[in-house]
Amino acid sequence: MALHRLARMTVAVPDPSVLDAFYQEIGFTGGDGSWGGADRPGQIQVGEASYRQLRALHIACEDEADLAAAAERLDQLGVPHQRVNGGLKVKDPVNQWEYIIEPAPVADISPQPKRVMNYPGERNRRGQRAEVLVEATPRPPRRLGHVVVGTPDPLKTSALCQALGFRVSDVVFNGAVTFMRCSWDHHNLLVTPGPVPYLNHYALEHDDFDSVMRAATIYLQTHGDDHQIAGPGRHPIGGNIFWYMLDPSGNFFEFFADMDQIVDDEAWQIREDWDPAVSWSVWGEPKQPEVFFEPNDMKAIIEGWNAAHG
Ligand SMILES: [Fe+2]
Repeated sequence: MALHRLARMTVAVPDPSVLDAFYQEIGFTGGDGSWGGADRPGQIQVGEASYRQLRALHIACEDEADLAAAAERLDQLGVPHQRVNGGLKVKDPVNQWEYIIEPAPVADISPQPKRVMNYPGERNRRGQRAEVLVEATPRPPRRLGHVVVGTPDPLKTSALCQALGFRVSDVVFNGAVTFMRCSWDHHNLLVTPGPVPYLNHYALEHDDFDSVMRAATIYLQTHGDDHQIAGPGRHPIGGNIFWYMLDPSGNFFEFFADMDQIVDDEAWQIREDWDPAVSWSVWGEPKQPEVFFEPNDMKAIIEGWNAAHG
């Protein structure tokens, strides 16, 4: 009885066709504003809006009891909710995007063939060249793994998400930055401060280190180094390998692999003493680039938000 998966994200951008082209290019399947990995079709929905924004997050739960428990917690918070199509819908009163919790079968994506690797004292790949050198086509991303939002009220936002059933994994800056999960992943949703509500980035899971490195390299070779945002590296918080880039609509996206998995909620120790100065990457670039929380189109997002909601 719990949330178990980030099911779907709806974003809206001024020109949805650029994202159709982008998702096809990186190896997702779908079309016409609905994209995903082979095992997660339609996990990203793209709509049209005057400025880029997050519209909705769909989260899968196990059963009716999860909806009832969430509804009770939302009542305690004083946040309105409604039943729609077998699910529970909440409009975030601070950020104006929607959360929809829906019962769905528990299922991870199907495992992919592991690359044969050599280690000191364990020479597994003998007489063969590395698979990444000889694979016919690069491996595609498998799914949307997490979403990071900026909000003028991080505490209220993370409280609402916890009422929905998200579990806290780690906390930075006394709760101004909260890593939360709705699955075994260390984080499926990260709440951070922002001048107005906005989508900071979304992250697509790859099979492994080589897949992340190769896919990111191909993307930057195709689109140019001005699409580089951060990485590669490995985050201490969540443990994942990362590489952040700019998609053609102005969203940051991340290719990631090998994130920490939290299977036993009771046994997991939430850390709240992270030192932000040294919490960006275990190796590679030591500091989080400033652009990370100051995307070039932030002015347009603030103006768009104020025009729509100000
Ligand atoms: Fe991320």
